[in-house]
Amino acid sequence: MEITGKTKVCAIIADPIQHVKTPQGINRLCEEMGKDAVLIPVQVSSEELISVVNGFRAMKNLAGFVITVPHKTTVAKLCDELSDDAARMGAVNVIRRSEDGRLHGAILDGKGFVAGLREEGIDPEGYSAYLVGAGGAASAIAYALAEAGVSQLTLANRTQEKAEALKERLRAAYPKLSIKIGTRDPKGHELVINATSLGLKEGDPLPLDVEGLTESQIVADIIMEPKETSLLKVAKSKGCTIQYGLPMLNNQLKLMVETMGL
Ligand code: ATR
Repeated sequence: MEITGKTKVCAIIADPIQHVKTPQGINRLCEEMGKDAVLIPVQVSSEELISVVNGFRAMKNLAGFVITVPHKTTVAKLCDELSDDAARMGAVNVIRRSEDGRLHGAILDGKGFVAGLREEGIDPEGYSAYLVGAGGAASAIAYALAEAGVSQLTLANRTQEKAEALKERLRAAYPKLSIKIGTRDPKGHELVINATSLGLKEGDPLPLDVEGLTESQIVADIIMEPKETSLLKVAKSKGCTIQYGLPMLNNQLKLMVETMGL
């Protein structure tokens, strides 16, 4: 694709930047979709963040920008407007810049996860869900599951206080949803999700007890590399339906393209 004066420009900001895969992901997607748009990687330190974000406001052909570690919470504070879930989480991972330079923030991890499930023909509406993890990724998924209409949500985490805190925040936003704190055993839940970082490294322990898994359960992992984590291997061997981590990312990229209006 030829970059011209009419090409819509967007960016990803991170520190460090070398490892980010979003440039390849978004640029490939734009090419496939025939969009005249380009995403560039920009390394920004926390000290320079405010001046860079203000510079972005002044760039008239900038459609928006993607935000990753360590800037997600600080940029949320610099936005002129936040989506409901970004406001609840106090974090953003994509910004749309409107023509007047205002910045509209959103967070798409959870929506990407649910869109990834739907792409595989799994609609979480009415499901009883078990979610292990209580960090940034788990919180985003918990909100998205509540929004998607799960009938019940069980939260489990190594540090139980963090699961309790997430439960309270969710309860405030979704007072009618049944939310419980769970053990390591996901029995009785139709949808089981690992949203911890366990499984990224070889030799990691399993994030939950797998002994009781049955073929009627769907087991999802948000880890993308390795594609098939130890959890998914065991779940597959027990006849569960499994959901890999990649659809969450791919759907998030599509949602980013849409959000920035590329
Ligand atoms: P992210 O933004 O990717 O969600 P995070 O906010 O650091 O990352 O959250 C990591 C999650 O993985 C947490 O739920 C963490 O559990 P704790 O809250 O107890 O720290 C979980 N996790 C990481 N390493 C773990 C381990 N060795 N055993 C169990 N849980 C672990």
